[in-house]
Amino acid sequence: MKKINVGIIGAGTMGGVHARIADKIGRVEVASVFDVDRMRAEQLAGQYNSRAFTDLDEMLKSEIEMVFVCVPNRLHAQVSIRALEAGKHVFCEKPLAISVGEALQIRNSAEKLGRKVFVGLNRRFSPIYVQAKKAVSASGFKPAHINIIQNDGDMMGCVWSADLKNMGGFLFDTTVHFLDMAEYLLGEIQEVRALGMAACYELQDDFVIQLKFGNGMLGAITTCGHASWIFPFERVQVVGDHRSVITEELDVYRYSPGLNKTIEAFDYSKLPFDEKWGYQAMHYHMYDVLEKEIPLVNGIEQGIRSVALVEACYRSVDANGAVIDVKTLI
Ligand SMILES: NC(=O)c1ccc[n+]([C@@H]2O[C@H](COP(=O)([O-])OP(=O)(O)OC[C@H]3O[C@@H](n4cnc5c(N)ncnc54)[C@H](O)[C@@H]3O)[C@@H](O)[C@H]2O)c1
Repeated sequence: MKKINVGIIGAGTMGGVHARIADKIGRVEVASVFDVDRMRAEQLAGQYNSRAFTDLDEMLKSEIEMVFVCVPNRLHAQVSIRALEAGKHVFCEKPLAISVGEALQIRNSAEKLGRKVFVGLNRRFSPIYVQAKKAVSASGFKPAHINIIQNDGDMMGCVWSADLKNMGGFLFDTTVHFLDMAEYLLGEIQEVRALGMAACYELQDDFVIQLKFGNGMLGAITTCGHASWIFPFERVQVVGDHRSVITEELDVYRYSPGLNKTIEAFDYSKLPFDEKWGYQAMHYHMYDVLEKEIPLVNGIEQGIRSVALVEACYRSVDANGAVIDVKTLI
């Protein structure tokens, strides 16, 4: 089968991850790499015998069918739209955009050009959350609420992660994964309420979020990026009718099917990074979608909803915790 030529836009950490996985899977060819930083572009391109570009228009003229947008958040929409307008399919790292307005513009361009958009909601493909979804969707489990704690040290990470202009706001960074995860596991969220504060940085960096799902279930997320990196910084619990699923990191899964019943446990900690984080399965899924008509797990609609959920949280914070109906944003 003919390989699909792909291009990497942004040769930083995630650009490197996606280039490596794309190359490893063998179904696509990493043909072009673009970065504003020439050295980065050349370094990554050199690893895959591909062409390096420092001009995006030139790169988009090269023989590629799909691009991976891996630049800072604030650039996602404009770069994705330029790639779509050039006729490319787009994988955009999360968040799809930093406003619903921008996310909808991406959808308009994709529809106009008949191109696919994929979003970096990789946790949907990680074995631990696939297993959690299987458990909570099984007959007999009547989920009632979800509880997510995500406190890490991310804001002292990469140079732009505590920079509001590049990031779009703290919730667009990692919390967007968990708003999406809540929907992936339990269905559409109807309403959010949120409180936020600037605890350690100038931007709001600490949030408590309440969720109400369309099916009546409830949820809570507490999240900050000014914690340490003590494990587990990522925890999800779904509780039902005397049943519970509990995950810690992307490593440890436990499922209690009822009072006085044997607890099922899986430990994914030794899986290779690309598998554990869902990146590899996400790549397989995207290439399958390009080859045959199958429903998208991480498509434009999931991307738009995840952006709308973040925006709803910020609107609620601005209104001192008022209820925000998510559908008023989309
Ligand atoms: N899904 C995930 O697990 C995950 C994890 C980390 C980061 N991300 C997302 O991936 C994206 C990239 O993050 P990263 O950690 O790789 O960042 P990074 O800083 O390592 O890389 C960003 C790259 O973009 C380049 N760049 C900056 N401005 C540019 C421009 N105008 N045009 C072209 N290139 C430009 C930089 O030179 C750098 O090489 C972010 O949107 C982030 O939210 C996703």
